[in-house]
Amino acid sequence: MSAERLPLAVLASGRGSNLGAILDACRADDFPARVAVVVSDRESAAALERARREGVDAVFLDPKACGDRAAYDDALVATLEPYRPGLVCLAGFMRLLGSAFVKAWAGRLMNIHPSLLPAFPGLHPHRQALDYGVKVSGATVHFVDDGVDSGPVILQASVPVRADDTEDSLSARVLVEEHRLYPEAIRLFAEGRLTIAGRRVFVKEKP
Ligand code: GRF
Repeated sequence: MSAERLPLAVLASGRGSNLGAILDACRADDFPARVAVVVSDRESAAALERARREGVDAVFLDPKACGDRAAYDDALVATLEPYRPGLVCLAGFMRLLGSAFVKAWAGRLMNIHPSLLPAFPGLHPHRQALDYGVKVSGATVHFVDDGVDSGPVILQASVPVRADDTEDSLSARVLVEEHRLYPEAIRLFAEGRLTIAGRRVFVKEKP
């Protein structure tokens, strides 16, 4: 099926474990997508290294070379254009994208966040969860809208929060679910099985 696989662009700023999970999923013969390009705003991002190791184009897009956010987003559009991605996946991408970019990619732009949204959006979600004292946390894959971690929810998975949890131990437990959820959400999108109606995302049964 490789000819008709959906081309993905993955944007990542850090270690790239979600990118790794997506690349691993793409190895399966029946996976309906492939990573066409990885873009990072950090030159030293392990995600770029991981992409290059797997023979995937990896681009460092330097925020300092761009001036303001609009210029960065324009550079991003120009970088992605030749790859013609059908879906852009944010995987630990630490820059906020401007509303023009978000609008242009509406319904084709996903993010993963390590909490059960709408709880604990933004920075340090595991710290927020521990400070709040919740007994359950988890991961959310969602479409991106103009807000911070506020777009329509595609998939969620929960994990228990234990009494002796630290940010690191909770993060590790949630990460296992992230690595399962993100490829699954991409599969559903690539198979044309996701419909957005207002804030709700409906998943069609496999024919
Ligand atoms: C993940 O926890 C993701 O949910 C969040 O940033 C982290 C990125 O981790 N948005 P990695 O770079 O994919 O390992």
